[in-house]
Amino acid sequence: MDLSKASYQDLKREVSRRENCTKMPKKIIILLGPPGSGKGTQSHKVINEFCYCQLSTGDLLREAVQKRTPGGIRAKEAMDRGQLVSDEIINEILEPVINSPSCERGVIFDGYPRTTPQAQNLEKLLEQLGRNLDHVFELKVDQNILYGRVEGRRVHLPSGRTYHLKNNPPKIEGKDDISGEPLVHRDDDKREIIKARLDVYNQKTQPIVEYYKRKNVLKSLNAMDEIDNVYSEIRRNLL
Ligand code: AP5
Repeated sequence: MDLSKASYQDLKREVSRRENCTKMPKKIIILLGPPGSGKGTQSHKVINEFCYCQLSTGDLLREAVQKRTPGGIRAKEAMDRGQLVSDEIINEILEPVINSPSCERGVIFDGYPRTTPQAQNLEKLLEQLGRNLDHVFELKVDQNILYGRVEGRRVHLPSGRTYHLKNNPPKIEGKDDISGEPLVHRDDDKREIIKARLDVYNQKTQPIVEYYKRKNVLKSLNAMDEIDNVYSEIRRNLL
């Protein structure tokens, strides 16, 4: 929220929300799941209630692409093909954010890690910061449902807020509920690219489910349930 433009009532609501957050446990969590499983949708719910910061490597990369930073220009080529961006670029965009004051209450990693080397890298990074990983939530959805979710998705790029034409429509068609700014259809949300992204998930990311199972931090959730029911399960585990 841009506080300089907020009304008195909005400011009061925001203060009370942040006060409530101080009663919530501080945690570091990962949301793991294929494209369209609801990582972004659930992250925004957690942020609202727990004031954790969201580290969505996808959102950070899209911002770098839009600003045409050197990393963003290199990342775009891989993203447009549905392939993974190099670890070097990911580390470049992640490290400054993880140390920022906005992450003091807790962190949600959304879309990171995606490979075993990234999981090992995160472990080292948290160790250096003296912080622990508390939960990994695996969002499980049948593959045939994911195509409809991703094709119908509309996104508010500046905030990463996500909608769906049928399942979760905005209050006004084509506009973000909070800012009123336009929603977009992501370049990589086309059917042929979704297929490549799902293949990459199955080959490279699925193996880290076992990695976190062995570390006793994994909780698998039925993410085909209603959005609010999935959130209730996450919330129950966080409290
Ligand atoms: P990224 O942006 O992370 O995409 P993704 O992992 O493919 O995930 P999505 O954003 O597609 O889905 P989501 O799970 O967040 O679902 P959402 O909540 O929006 O990454 C994009 C690209 O960046 C990658 O392909 C790669 O190139 C690169 N990249 C990113 N991170 C990287 C990394 N660490 N290393 C290397 N490369 C990296 O929900 C989807 C839709 O479904 C929405 O419309 C929503 O409203 C709806 N919905 C959600 N939940 C439900 C529900 N329970 N019921 C019904 N509808 C629902």
